[in-house]
Amino acid sequence: MSGGTGEIPHHRSVLYQETISLLAPFSSGLYLDCTAGAGGHSNGILEASAPAGRVLALDLDPRAVALTSARLEVYGERAIVRQGSYLHSRDFLQELGWEAVDGILLDLGVSSMQLDEADRGFSFRQEGPLDMRFDPTSGPSAADLVNRLEERELADILWKYGEERFSRRIARKIVQARPLHSTTELADVVRSALGRTKEAQDPATRTFQALRIAVNDELEVIAEAIPQLIALLQPNARIAVIAFHSLEDRIIKQTFQRESRDCICPPEQPICTCGHRASIRIITPHPIEAGEQEKKENPRARSAKLRVAEKLTKMA
Ligand SMILES: C[S@@+](CC[C@H](N)C(=O)[O-])C[C@H]1O[C@@H](n2cnc3c(N)ncnc32)[C@H](O)[C@@H]1O
Repeated sequence: MSGGTGEIPHHRSVLYQETISLLAPFSSGLYLDCTAGAGGHSNGILEASAPAGRVLALDLDPRAVALTSARLEVYGERAIVRQGSYLHSRDFLQELGWEAVDGILLDLGVSSMQLDEADRGFSFRQEGPLDMRFDPTSGPSAADLVNRLEERELADILWKYGEERFSRRIARKIVQARPLHSTTELADVVRSALGRTKEAQDPATRTFQALRIAVNDELEVIAEAIPQLIALLQPNARIAVIAFHSLEDRIIKQTFQRESRDCICPPEQPICTCGHRASIRIITPHPIEAGEQEKKENPRARSAKLRVAEKLTKMA
């Protein structure tokens, strides 16, 4: 099924209605979907901005690009799909001759399709290579990190990106068990390091999250990209960001707060020396979460948080 719910088999766009209505697309508008995935949100923006609105959809994952291209083909020249990181959005826009856009969306993290594809290595539930790269043609894989890093560096990754309390214990077990090549081998090592736990979630969850974030440099990319993306917005245009865990959401919240303030000097400083000027106003003081029905139907939606900000007409 496609259309009004952003749904195709195996993939549902999270917070679909909320995102589209807060972006409020209009015909003649230009939109940037930084994380195309299966093209669900892009499809929604194109529908809502008919007959003339255009969308540039980016994704690092060549499979997501192929899928989105096929899905959006019906929109002809209104939909442009490119493979690459949203960190390079400005270059992609320049190629099209777009100076600024009327709305930007980031729907962060891994897609349910990527989790379902065993050969991508994102899921501990399926046997697959330890890869975890959004773009499987570039950069070190999870196997490279797991087999090459020092025990202390591995523990730091598990602690920082997985908030794993037993990071040292798991890192020690991993180093003892190397070389590790598959998702299930790694998951077994983590489970054996932790023994029986009372947790509802699989003990390997946090380790897999941490490695995926490290492999794709996710948090650093988000922190660097958001201010650059805000700079690409037309006055009164909105940026919407959907985050799936507290580490991502904290970065979005803090970046929006900083960019909505005129002065970002430390509070103890009596006189402003930073010269910073607010560039946005926050539309969602509290993040929007999925309703009970969506949470029931789509487990991925349970942790989703949507934050939206609007570009100011002119700098104060
Ligand atoms: C949750 S999915 C997006 C789903 C999409 N909104 C939809 O409705 O189908 C996130 C996507 O972001 C992509 N991604 C992650 N980091 C990226 C980056 N730095 N640049 C571009 N795409 C990225 C992933 O490959 C994945 O396909």
